[in-house]
Amino acid sequence: MYIGLDLGTSSLKGILTDRQGNLIASASREYPVEYPHPGWSQQDPAHWVRAMEEVLGELRSKADKIDALSVAGQMHGLVALDGEGRVIRPCILWNDGRTAPQVAELNETVTKEGIAKYTGNAAFAGFTAPKVMWLRENEPESYARIRKIMLPKDYLVYVLTGRYSAEYSDGAGTLLMDVEHRCWSEEMCRAAGVDMSWLPELRESWETVGTALPQWGLGSCLVAAGAGDNAGAAVGTGAVNGGDCTVSLGTSGTVFISTDKFAQAGDGSALHSFCHAEGRWHYLGCILSAASANKWWLEDILGTKDYDGAVKGAEPGRTGVFFLPYLMGERSPHNDTSARGAFIGMTPATTRQEMSLAVLEGVTFALRDCLEVARGLGVRLDSVTLCGGGARSRLWRRLCADIFRTRVRVPLVEQGPGYGAAILAMVTAGEYPTVEAACAAICRSELVAEPDEAMAARYDALYARFRQLYPALKGIMSVD
Ligand code: XUL
Repeated sequence: MYIGLDLGTSSLKGILTDRQGNLIASASREYPVEYPHPGWSQQDPAHWVRAMEEVLGELRSKADKIDALSVAGQMHGLVALDGEGRVIRPCILWNDGRTAPQVAELNETVTKEGIAKYTGNAAFAGFTAPKVMWLRENEPESYARIRKIMLPKDYLVYVLTGRYSAEYSDGAGTLLMDVEHRCWSEEMCRAAGVDMSWLPELRESWETVGTALPQWGLGSCLVAAGAGDNAGAAVGTGAVNGGDCTVSLGTSGTVFISTDKFAQAGDGSALHSFCHAEGRWHYLGCILSAASANKWWLEDILGTKDYDGAVKGAEPGRTGVFFLPYLMGERSPHNDTSARGAFIGMTPATTRQEMSLAVLEGVTFALRDCLEVARGLGVRLDSVTLCGGGARSRLWRRLCADIFRTRVRVPLVEQGPGYGAAILAMVTAGEYPTVEAACAAICRSELVAEPDEAMAARYDALYARFRQLYPALKGIMSVD
């Protein structure tokens, strides 16, 4: 039996599978995010550990023997540890925008060309390196205590095995890694004030880090290095061959395109070029608020959990309302920490159902922004595989088909990044020789929507207007 864990932003989910990838059991625990200032977000890693203890406790009771496990996790977060392996301060998360000044500093000192040369990417506020610089400037006492820096899921691997570990798919999002050559970058470490001894050794995602410590009660369960959650989700949907595309509708929204070779995406300011969990590479576009924008609008603002009822009667493409989903600023393609959310176009006749539908359409338009950048690089996108919580919505699947102008597939077993983590665990245990072989044997998807020409044409026209909104509002969206 195998366990895949998904260390998400709002919860930790775990699944237990057999060697064919059949789902035997699942468990999850939620935890909070702190927003100490607008645009900042952080989380106490102790919540993750508690959630993991409870989830593993549940899953363990459903299996005689667990052969291996791995973790796929939220990317880019900074977990700083002292010399005793203790967490120094809350983890600054992937969607935290506090480091805009540090990004500007890197762009000046290393230069954009230098950063592209050393990492294959552009600098973004959410990445890990500027977070270390922020700590050095704003919390020097915390910075002085650092002896190890880890990504969120690597911290869980450390708690599970007692070993410091890192792997390429998540390491790629630190801005401290030479993505093409799959090694830490000395130049970037120097520029960001990172002592190279703080960085764990890099591995491939399916390689074994160690055995779970006895206190976990998991017997001789192997722990694989795991993956960033997007690479994990791509493995879980079987997107491991060049050109395969997965779109995730989770807290973040991502467009993930597997590539056979390393290639920088234009100047890197719109899409990232990261390592995949199967040994090659991928492009990634990330919007910071996707299903989370929908959750905010429905649960926090309208006070409802009736997601289907909330849009009842509203007509796709005819709400008359645009929504910009930049609640936490935006990463791809705008790279603007001061962008904010907006509704535009309401009249006294606008209904709350139309505004709710406009939220889904706005998030989907923002994802199309990422797909258009990929198309501009020559990527052919005939079909995308959806994953993440939003992929369960029939309406959202339809909107994706019409707004992206692609066929839409969903995996038969939709368990997000955790499913990919379970597959990596199978490979580490020798159940399959490679990640590709495991995916070929396990991952199946079904076609659930095809673009309707009339709706796609309508959405093309609306998208052309959507594209004009951010440039028109840029610089005036954030109110202090
Ligand atoms: C990707 C990114 C997000 C997080 C969400 O670059 O920042 O998708 O990984 O967990």
